[in-house]
Amino acid sequence: MAEIAIVADAEAAGELAAQQIARVVASRPDAVLGLATGSTPLSTWAALKGRGLDLTGVRGFALDEYVGLPDGHPESYRAVITREVVEPLGLTPSLVHVPGDDGGPLDGAGERYEAAIAAVGGVDLQILGIGRTGHIGFNEPGSSLTSRTRIKTLTEQTRADNARFFDSPDQVPRHCLTQGLGTILDARQLVLLAFGEGKAAAVAAAVEGPLSASMPGSVIQLHPRVLVIVDEAAGSQLRHADYYRFAWDNRLPFEV
Ligand code: F6R
Repeated sequence: MAEIAIVADAEAAGELAAQQIARVVASRPDAVLGLATGSTPLSTWAALKGRGLDLTGVRGFALDEYVGLPDGHPESYRAVITREVVEPLGLTPSLVHVPGDDGGPLDGAGERYEAAIAAVGGVDLQILGIGRTGHIGFNEPGSSLTSRTRIKTLTEQTRADNARFFDSPDQVPRHCLTQGLGTILDARQLVLLAFGEGKAAAVAAAVEGPLSASMPGSVIQLHPRVLVIVDEAAGSQLRHADYYRFAWDNRLPFEV
């Protein structure tokens, strides 16, 4: 089962996630981190920055990238990762990868990204957010639970949710390259964060609902090492919240 931490707010969640990252980097300075974009991981990056760790040896692989934005677009995930992760945290730019940024054709980009991840021995710790459709990465409902990095079509719900980053909703691309659910499951540890009432249904379905391609986030139930960190609002529809709190408060020193 996943460990579920229900914390006060995004800041507390970021501290907890940063602690997990710090632990991995302490044991392996060239650790491979899986990087999410969007609003959710921002408090994690802030907390990590506060720790002042040397992250120059860390390798990074973004979960996903829009298809169809002009090169250098400020909302491309390449630009977002550079601005929000690489520069503030002092990662080495050449060690951080985003799907489709290897200069090759779009055709085959997924396979090449998979090969690049495999070449560094896989992802040690994957940071995840979750969309209101239940997507992780950009694996929208219907994604195969064993899918690999590939092109996907975004739902209109996700395009609307991400319109806040663009000047107008129609500028949000319809397509993306995303790590697959099978790719995400290959990471050695998953840390999924979610904040706010709008994520409550997706969190409950992912953690407690049936395992289903219709709820891509539910694939985390197949992973042996998952930490789900939610604020009170995002955790408000969890049926077993009392037990999760009890288990978290009584975790043993070697757990999590
Ligand atoms: C982003 C990603 C998505 C987001 C999700 C939540 O790289 O893979 O799954 O994590 O759309 O987005 P926010 O955090 O903006 O609510």
